[in-house]
Amino acid sequence: MEITRSDIKLVRELNQKFFGNHLGDQKEHLILNRLKKLYRSQSAFKNLSDMLDAVARGEYVQEFINAFTTNKTSFFRELIHFDDLRSRVFPEHFSQSNEIKIYSSASSTGEEPYSIAMTFLHYQINHPKAINATVYATDIDTDVLETAKAGIYNLIESDSPFPQWIQPHHYFQRRIISEYQHPLIRANETMKKITNFKQHNLLDHESAFGSICFDVIFCRNVLIYFDAPNQDKVLRKLFSTLKIGGTLYTGHSETPITLFPYIEKIGPSIFKKISEIDPRNEPCIAS
Ligand SMILES: C[S@@+](CC[C@H](N)C(=O)[O-])C[C@H]1O[C@@H](n2cnc3c(N)ncnc32)[C@H](O)[C@@H]1O
Repeated sequence: MEITRSDIKLVRELNQKFFGNHLGDQKEHLILNRLKKLYRSQSAFKNLSDMLDAVARGEYVQEFINAFTTNKTSFFRELIHFDDLRSRVFPEHFSQSNEIKIYSSASSTGEEPYSIAMTFLHYQINHPKAINATVYATDIDTDVLETAKAGIYNLIESDSPFPQWIQPHHYFQRRIISEYQHPLIRANETMKKITNFKQHNLLDHESAFGSICFDVIFCRNVLIYFDAPNQDKVLRKLFSTLKIGGTLYTGHSETPITLFPYIEKIGPSIFKKISEIDPRNEPCIAS
């Protein structure tokens, strides 16, 4: 299969245009691999240029996006954030309210939002004031969202074990056996009731959940795929939906520099909102 310099250039432009995926010079190998894989999965095209022309015209865009997202995730990834949730955020929050709204903004296959849900359900056992939690979760990739909604995971593929304080059988059923005889786990109804998945492009002007204000936002390991202007754009939009005093978690290699006057760093990639960016804006108030 011939892939020309202009094909690669067009792939870079389309990634940037459709979902802000910034593919620098060092990503050429990734571009070639994913492009070949996408082309082989599509039977409707005579050749690769044909396929790219169709994507550029606005056809097969979702397939294109799904092929170029990077979805690596795991349960309780960066455990310190879940420890912070249960030891600082929940006690502070549930001393004043009995419900909490948490947003997992790039949720991939669901391990992050389900880890948040488990952390809440575990906390709830000994804290009767913690009555309700909703974990809102979005991703742009429709394939990973299907996996997330199904909530079925292969234990062997899960590279991050559950922390000691989590008893997985409280949150997952283990009865399903795959055709390969690997043990699978399926999120139970309580976990599914708490989580709410939706497709959303973080670069969209509108927020994913309208005027809902969040107490906590997870924006982890997604900013690294954007260029600096888009990182700032995404952060500002998310920040406008975080209530003052709310917590923002980012990935360990992601620093929200442009928010620094308005946040206080309180731990590794853990930030507390102290003010709105524009004081004339209505502050976000979580109900
Ligand atoms: C590496 S995963 C991170 C998953 C999880 N937050 C974690 O830290 O484990 C990045 C996710 O961001 C999603 N993503 C990339 N660009 C996006 C965009 N513009 N809008 C929404 N999601 C996006 C990808 O589909 C992918 O599932």
